Formats: sequence, structure tokens, C-alpha cells
Amino acid sequence: MTDRPFKALVVNEEENRTFTRGIAWKQVSDLPEGDVLVSVHYSSLNYKDALSASGNRGVTRKYPHTPGIDAAGVVEWSGSEKFGKGDGVIVTSYDLGMNTAGGFAEYIRVPESWVVPLPQGMTARQSMMFGTAGFTAALSVYRMMAGGVKPGDGDVLVSGASGGVGSIAVSILALLGFSVTAVNGRKDETDYLKRLGANSVISREEAENPGSPPLLRERWAGCVDTVGGDILATAIKSTRRNGVVTCCGNAASFQLPLNVYPFILRGVSLVGIDSQECPMPLRTEIWKSLAESWGRIPIESFVTEIPLDGVSEAIDRMLAGQHKGRTLVKI
Ligand SMILES: NC(=O)c1ccc[n+]([C@@H]2O[C@H](COP(=O)([O-])OP(=O)(O)OC[C@H]3O[C@@H](n4cnc5c(N)ncnc54)[C@H](OP(=O)(O)O)[C@@H]3O)[C@@H](O)[C@H]2O)c1
Repeated sequence: MTDRPFKALVVNEEENRTFTRGIAWKQVSDLPEGDVLVSVHYSSLNYKDALSASGNRGVTRKYPHTPGIDAAGVVEWSGSEKFGKGDGVIVTSYDLGMNTAGGFAEYIRVPESWVVPLPQGMTARQSMMFGTAGFTAALSVYRMMAGGVKPGDGDVLVSGASGGVGSIAVSILALLGFSVTAVNGRKDETDYLKRLGANSVISREEAENPGSPPLLRERWAGCVDTVGGDILATAIKSTRRNGVVTCCGNAASFQLPLNVYPFILRGVSLVGIDSQECPMPLRTEIWKSLAESWGRIPIESFVTEIPLDGVSEAIDRMLAGQHKGRTLVKI
């Protein structure tokens, strides 16, 4: 395959550990070795990208670096028997955009084990409207339901509801017939969350109860938590007998002030959600659900589409806590 120039967002480390970013020309030969070269058509913005773009060493160790944990497009060259030139593919998770050049670029090159065939009926654009946030929301709902929680069992709680994962979780749960209570705090997004299908919206203050007793009144049949900390602890203490709580994020805190009573006296399950290393059979099943029935949520209504040269500004807004819904990047 001949080398060629392409555009990418590049983050550079300057003196005094300051980080600058801008669009630069790269060569395909600059990309890491890999089995599949993908011409990226769409990417999307996730919080991890904002961390990578601002020098968070827990996400990215070495700069210059191109972030972007999500990418979808078409195979341009393949050394793998599983994929051929022209195949539509999704690449998210694993090391993409962390220490491997990511999806904020016209090309990525990755191992075949990271590549998901674009499900039938789904376009690259649709897949990136969901992206890692949508995949994580769907995985959370799937694991909650696999634990036995069904529509009709009672109210389910979604925290961080106006964020990327939260918005999609609210929408999928409402589509499936769950009665959803959304936790929202940054600014009042009640109208937005009700349009997504939330039955009621409560404040962060109402959702957390620091220093409360080990068990609280049974309120939730299940919970999709994206924020951690006191809100997650309070949700677990307020979950009904044999309910299921999923935990995927730490937007509020990585701490979990709790004791064992909700688990041993009420049989509550706490399920960890790790989209990054989700096994491939479950990964393809979740993408298939998003391409089929679960994808029928009104996702266009909370997606903002930006070009590659708008990513830097969108990252600043995300770091300033002004991000809402999903940001789709047209490459
Ligand atoms: N485990 C995984 O595989 C995985 C995958 C994707 C994302 N994540 C994690 O999941 C979390 C959510 O991701 P996202 O893409 O939805 O992020 P996001 O778009 O930035 O949304 C996070 C939401 O959390 C709420 N929030 C922010 N700060 C808070 C605070 N101090 N206290 C309480 N709530 C707060 C806000 O919602 P309201 O204003 O509506 O309250 C915000 O919109 C992040 O921690 C992310 O790293 C994990």
C-alpha cells in the first residue's frame, strides 16, 4: 500500500507541561503497525478524549498524540482475512485514542481484534452518534436486564442523565417501557430529559444522602449510574430487594461510601461496566441491538455534528462542564 498524507488533530506537549492542539498533516507510515487501515468517516467526542487532549497521563502517556477513542468508516487496506477493502467497520475501545493514534484523523490503523463489522442497517454516521457513550449506556441497560430487572418492576434511576451515557440510557430505558427517574444537576435540563422519555427528574441533592444509614427506603427497581460517589451509594441503599445497579463512571467521585448491608440483606447486585475490554461476542450483540430496536431512540435530537477542526473547541467546552448530549465528528 502506498504512503499518503492525511489530516489529524494532534496534541503536543510544550515546555512546563502545557498542551497545545491543532490540525496537522500526517503520513499513513506514521501510524502504528496494524492489520487493518480504516478511512475514518465519523468519530465522536467522549470525556476520555478531553482527558487525553489535556495531558492526563492516566489516559495518554506520550505526546504528540491524536486522541479519539471512537471511529467508524471503511476499510482501505487489510492484512486480515476477516476484513476486506470497502467493508464498513466500527472501531472503539481497547487502546484506540489512548496510546494508539485515534479517530480524530482521516485514517487509523489497528489490530483486527479491535474491529467490529458495521451491523446491517446501520451507517457509520449512526454508529458514531452512539459511539462509546451509547455503547456503554446500552451495555449498562443490557446488564441490568440480564440481572432480572424488567419494565413494570418499578422506577429505575439514571444519574448524570444529561450527559452522553445518561441521555442514551434514559432514552433506551424509556423506549423499552421502563419508568425512568433522571438525576440532573449542572443546570435544569428537565424539559430535555422529559423529551427523552424520563417520567420524573430529581436534583443531585435529592439523589444523594451523605452519612445516611446503611439502608434507605426501597425506591428503585434498578439503576444506571454514571457518576459514582454519594449518588451511587445512595442509589444502592435505596434499591429494592434483588434489584440491579450498574456502575460505569466517576463524573462525581471515584469513592463509594457504603457497607455490605444492601448486598447481604436485600440481595442488591452491583454490576461493573467496562466498555473498553468488553468481550467481542457481547460487543457485537450490543452493537446489533443499537442497529436494530434499541437504535430507534430519537438520538438525532441530542446530537451536535461538528467538523474535525471544531473538535478542539468542543473539548474545551467538555472540560468546562458545558457539554450536553452527544457530539458527532464528521471527518
Ligand atoms: N466504564 C466505561 O466503559 C465507560 C465508558 C464511557 C464513559 N464512562 C464514564 O462515564 C461517565 C459519564 O460519561 P459521559 O460521556 O456521559 O460524560 P458527560 O457527557 O460529561 O456526562 C457526565 C454527566 O454527569 C453529571 N455530572 C458531572 N459532574 C457531576 C458531579 N460533580 N456530580 C454529579 N453529577 C455530575 C452531569 O449530568 P447532569 O448535569 O445531568 O447531572 C454530566 O452531564 C464518565 O465518568 C466517563 O468517564 C465509562
